[in-house]
Amino acid sequence: MAAMIEDVRARKVFDSRGDATIEVEVATAEGFGIASAPSGASRGKAEVIAYPPGGIEEAIRKVEELIAPELIGMSADEQEEIDGILHELDGTDNFSNIGGNTAYAVSLAVADAAANSYGMPLFRYLGGLLACELPYPLGNVLGGGRHALGKAPDIQEFLVLPVGAGSFMAAAEANIRVHKRVRDMLLKVDPSFTGGRGDEGAWAPCISNERALEVVSKACEEVSCEVGFECRLGLDMASSTLWDPQKQQYVYVNEGVRRDPGEQLDYVLGLIEKYKLIYIEDPFHEEDFESFRELTRRVKGCLVCGDDLFATNERRLKVGVEMNSGNAIIIKVNQVGTLTDALKTVKLAKENNYLPIISHRSGETTSLHIAHLAVGLGCPIIKAGVVGGERLAKINELIYIEEILGDRARMAKLRI
Ligand code: PGA
Ligand code: ZN
Repeated sequence: MAAMIEDVRARKVFDSRGDATIEVEVATAEGFGIASAPSGASRGKAEVIAYPPGGIEEAIRKVEELIAPELIGMSADEQEEIDGILHELDGTDNFSNIGGNTAYAVSLAVADAAANSYGMPLFRYLGGLLACELPYPLGNVLGGGRHALGKAPDIQEFLVLPVGAGSFMAAAEANIRVHKRVRDMLLKVDPSFTGGRGDEGAWAPCISNERALEVVSKACEEVSCEVGFECRLGLDMASSTLWDPQKQQYVYVNEGVRRDPGEQLDYVLGLIEKYKLIYIEDPFHEEDFESFRELTRRVKGCLVCGDDLFATNERRLKVGVEMNSGNAIIIKVNQVGTLTDALKTVKLAKENNYLPIISHRSGETTSLHIAHLAVGLGCPIIKAGVVGGERLAKINELIYIEEILGDRARMAKLRI
């Protein structure tokens, strides 16, 4: 049995913020797999708990003493059973016992090991021979919020989506071009700009939200003309981080403005119209399914995406589907723990015309898995950043996947 698990090990490594994280290695009879967990800075309340009470050391002990003995002797292609065992061993509904990041690293290392044991790239193991569609990269070019310090914009991420690109390579190049153009423009509008960047490699200048929108919108326009296809603007407002539940207001600290839910809706509608946004993520806090519904009803041609709202959780997405809240969903596997859980959410999303967007986290390792998940699971968009080694690891892997698919490679269909 090529994929029979012979050993499971865990160790402490570091993510792009320099924080400790867990890496798991699975050895099989004829291969091996390895995966390390990313971490969020603007985590949703509905996400699973990242680590057990004893932290990473305890998570490592749990892998070696509790999880490894159960998995050794199983086949790495029994993904669903293995993910079921992780749930059983944990015994809670939020992985607070073994840790969601522990579950993530084991689950992904198992998939990685299965693919490797069969001599297949992970995307093909997951998606079969028909998995030939490359995702559009949604790239963070300017930002603030929890991903930066000082007087950076309150809005967390200003994003570019190169919707007209004919290949992944062209799309990736366009995003890099916009990122560079934004830097050149910032040098002119912000005298204090040092070239500083936030956690995801996006520029973090001391300018207002409105000024940032003007800059990125102009950079997108210019680059669209140069490359000959459309690059559109999007935002991740990460509104749960702005929301003050006591005051029932969104607090824009650097802008010095507060907005109640009605004002927030008007503000967001205004931004979508003024800047022809193609994408808006978490425009309301994570419990406000109602406002998501209202916005989705009122806009056309814009993806209304839930990140903290859904937390990659099938049950929460069901609520969204019933209420018509949003039309896109961020998929971060470690928000929910295992690959099987994430697959269920992606399936439900597709069945209900929610566009699944596979996503990095602000704290990333150089693990490549999300590049493969994008193609293997058929996610038409990947949110993976534009620059920085841990972001480019994913982008470069997709360039490689596009190359090995050769003539069969094509860009995903975007229905927006
Ligand atoms: P994270 O969030 O910092 O929790 O990874 C990024 C995002 O909101 O998309
Ligand atoms: Zn987000």
